[in-house]
Amino acid sequence: MIELQDIAYVRSGSADLAAAVDFAVNVVGLELVGNADGHAYLRADARHHCLEFVEGASGVLSTGFSLLDDTALAHAERDLEAAGVPVVRGDREGARERGVRDFLAFEDPFGNVVELVVDQIRSPGPVRFGRPAGITEFGHLCLDAPDVREAYRFWSSLFNVRVSDWIGDWACLMRFDPVHHKLAVFKSSRPGLCHMNFQVESIDDVMRSWHFLRERGVEIEMGPGRHPQSTAIFLYFKGPEGLTYEYSYGVRRIADDEEWRPRYFDPDAPDAIDLWRGTTARVSSQPQLPGGTVR
Ligand SMILES: [Fe+2]
Repeated sequence: MIELQDIAYVRSGSADLAAAVDFAVNVVGLELVGNADGHAYLRADARHHCLEFVEGASGVLSTGFSLLDDTALAHAERDLEAAGVPVVRGDREGARERGVRDFLAFEDPFGNVVELVVDQIRSPGPVRFGRPAGITEFGHLCLDAPDVREAYRFWSSLFNVRVSDWIGDWACLMRFDPVHHKLAVFKSSRPGLCHMNFQVESIDDVMRSWHFLRERGVEIEMGPGRHPQSTAIFLYFKGPEGLTYEYSYGVRRIADDEEWRPRYFDPDAPDAIDLWRGTTARVSSQPQLPGGTVR
């Protein structure tokens, strides 16, 4: 079993790097920690970065998850290969680019490129946020797949991942620590990144950002609303090149892992996605760029 410790980062290809960085800093509120040679790094918490833009074609390059140590990484490589999943080991240059000591990459059954990393650099100083959005941490990430049941079979058979709730065959919300979901898979015809989430301090931050975004003409994709599954108050909005960001506050923590029973929600029911019954919509995704190699 591959033991995920945490989410690490999103790597996203950006055709207009300056616009992507400007939005991430001045609208989302992240701190720009490096920008050179076509790579821009942004952080929200003690992770060295949680978002890397790589100048080039638009689309998601990969998502990263951290493992405990070298032994865990070696075991992950062995387990994936035993399951027939080709693994590409990262090199020193790739690790340096990602702010980690070592990593590997693989594709899930649908073509999402996933990286497993060890020793993601921690940045101990306070985050110098681009604006006061109230961000406390990189909260979760959501991938796309045409079959969320099949996706769950993949994640739960190889990883320490359990389903927290199902939204029909529309979404599978998964946990590997007490947080209700740090990984989710949403139904889509092609692989991609559905959205990346940032937790904020309070409902006031969500609502303040809602006004802030609307005043600036940013496309609100969904919310403000409240998800019945995680109880989180959410706001989804679209950044440049189709990258969807989410702020949320108040995510459920599952204290007793063994006691929790996953629940099943009908996505067509009026309050299955939003307890407040606002307009719900499938948010836009960033398509997965072709994988196969580490880049
Ligand atoms: Fe989310």
